[in-house]
Amino acid sequence: MAARAIRGTVARFQGDPFGPAGREALVFEEDCLVLVEDGIIARVGPAETMLASLPPGTPVDHYPGAILSPGFIDAHVHYPQMQMIGAAGEELLAWLDAFTFPAEAGFSDPEHAEDVAGRFLRELLRAGTTTAAVYCTVHAHSVDAFFAESERFGTRMIAGKVLMDRNAPPDLTDTAASGTEESATLIARWHGKGRQLYAITPRFAPSCSEEQLEAAGRLWREHPGTYVQTHLCENVAETAWVAELFPERSSYLDVYDHAGLTGPRAIFGHAVHMTEADFACCHRTGSVLAHCPTSNLFLGSGLFRLFEAKRADRPVKVALGTDLGAGTSFSQLQTMNEAYKVAKLGGTTLSTAEALWLATTGAAEALHLSDRIGAIEPGREADIIVLDPAATPLLQFRTAYCRDLTETLSVLMTLGDDRAVRASYVAGVPVYDRDRAGDPFVYP
Ligand code: GUN
Ligand code: FE
Repeated sequence: MAARAIRGTVARFQGDPFGPAGREALVFEEDCLVLVEDGIIARVGPAETMLASLPPGTPVDHYPGAILSPGFIDAHVHYPQMQMIGAAGEELLAWLDAFTFPAEAGFSDPEHAEDVAGRFLRELLRAGTTTAAVYCTVHAHSVDAFFAESERFGTRMIAGKVLMDRNAPPDLTDTAASGTEESATLIARWHGKGRQLYAITPRFAPSCSEEQLEAAGRLWREHPGTYVQTHLCENVAETAWVAELFPERSSYLDVYDHAGLTGPRAIFGHAVHMTEADFACCHRTGSVLAHCPTSNLFLGSGLFRLFEAKRADRPVKVALGTDLGAGTSFSQLQTMNEAYKVAKLGGTTLSTAEALWLATTGAAEALHLSDRIGAIEPGREADIIVLDPAATPLLQFRTAYCRDLTETLSVLMTLGDDRAVRASYVAGVPVYDRDRAGDPFVYP
């Protein structure tokens, strides 16, 4: 049996910080040992007592002063858009035409897809993200390239082939029939292979005919356990276009609901321009909203109303997404920073506990993965990251003034980025070590 121990201060939730526990839900257990056996967390406890009972020869990676967190979960991101981060000047619909579609067209070349998939996975791990819900392109081989690289690292990823049969360049469209057939083949090939999970991925209502959306809904019902991911109410012009394209539907979300695309494991990106009926539908169906603050700010899409989504009488599941390449950072720390500011502009305050929850334990719960990932707890897969409060001279200076670890974490969310991630463990293996000489990445 492969055993390893990781020593440091563990960040843990004793409940949902959006619930009655509030910010007290987040606790720090100082100087703990996390014992990992065959990729699964076997025990967590005080280092002092656990060291004595470790199986002889167990390696111990000690990170004094660091915070051990569950690996970050990114609920909405596009790997083919890595090459166009920061493509500036336009709002959503013009941005798609000017930058996104040309970039995605380049993925007709399988070698390009493999190259970008490799770079993308490394950037995720460098940022401390160990699970993501990822859009590939319309090309089936873009999915193969992504999952193959994820399999090499052993990361738990959710991904799928983009479906679009209209309102996109001809070299990027499929048909309702071909998109369904290719997705079914990819599900058979990848869903449940190792740690990989498939997401049926109709891009968004404007680029999918009703026939294609309905076919996607049928495919989802035929494959329990798979996900659905798409975009929803991101931008005013886009939302108005959907009303024009689907005049018989009562709202943008109703288009998806009518096609059978709402429910547990349905992830809707953005959800900025939502009605009360839309939030109620998400609550009723158990659908998840991916809050993508850096993207919504970059494209000028609007301000997500997190605390409206989380309203106690009909709470909606929410997780945090980077939405690269419209988003501006791989780092979920930076995404929390922007989520904090977006909440402030809406007259609300996002606590440090709430922010971390949305990118870790809460995201795992929202995605029905909390039996597997999202917490440093016995029985869960050992996706663990090491956050370094002294990663930069400024962080070292600033965090020395913190009165407690919640404040330290808050400062990490403000000033931190990939530099603050000292190491990323995937199923107990340190696949990324910031300070390793030469290549900081290794395959297990
Ligand atoms: N809506 C449809 N496609 C996209 C995309 O690639 N990025 C964003 N941000 N919104 C979209
Ligand atoms: Fe997106």
